[in-house]
Amino acid sequence: MRLDKFICGCTDYSRINAKRAIGKGNVTVNGELVKNPSTKIKDTDQVYLGEQLLSFITERYIMLNKPVDFICSNVDESHPSVLNLISIEKPEKLHIAGRLDVDTTGLVLVTDDGKWSHSITSPKKECGKRYRAELTTPIEQSAVAQFAEGIQLNNERGLTRPAKLEIIEPYEVLVTVHEGKYHQVKRMFAAIGNKVVSLHRESIGGIELGDLPPGEWRYLTDEEAKL
Ligand code: URA
Repeated sequence: MRLDKFICGCTDYSRINAKRAIGKGNVTVNGELVKNPSTKIKDTDQVYLGEQLLSFITERYIMLNKPVDFICSNVDESHPSVLNLISIEKPEKLHIAGRLDVDTTGLVLVTDDGKWSHSITSPKKECGKRYRAELTTPIEQSAVAQFAEGIQLNNERGLTRPAKLEIIEPYEVLVTVHEGKYHQVKRMFAAIGNKVVSLHRESIGGIELGDLPPGEWRYLTDEEAKL
């Protein structure tokens, strides 16, 4: 790959700014000053921009713990976006794989790999998402079978896909769903005459939020990113 293109891939520099930095003598390759932007770079080359050793940005896989009152998009003037919580190079390349409502907390996955996010959000891939919900009314045991059979949501054709409902306490449940309809979990409880007071996503596929504090983020391990 050309040196100027390599610099663009590692930093926020445009091609013009990369060429300027090279021309000004700010770039070394394997300890040698290089002034030709078309110099070919190999994987093993060590490229420095000033004091900074550059490495190419490959696809990134991130989890964060969404706090309440943050939104999972960047078009809303009244609430900050969860993407503001992540301070890394080239944030504009990132997108959210599976949104949460503004008042829902918990696991959000962020990536720049479109195929990977599709495998999380596509109902065909059957990636389970587990939520912990607090309810206004004690849950009845019969709801377990209703969720397993599928729930008829208001204004939807057909039933939801089978969902797993685990009762922790009368007012607290775990729900695992395999699709992501608008306000799905809240609407499932509304459909059986209950109401969600708080909703927290704990896992997506095999990826568990664990004890990551609210507002914090981290890269997924290679194992987690395999889903
Ligand atoms: N279901 C909901 O109702 N809200 C969410 O944020 C996620 C799932």
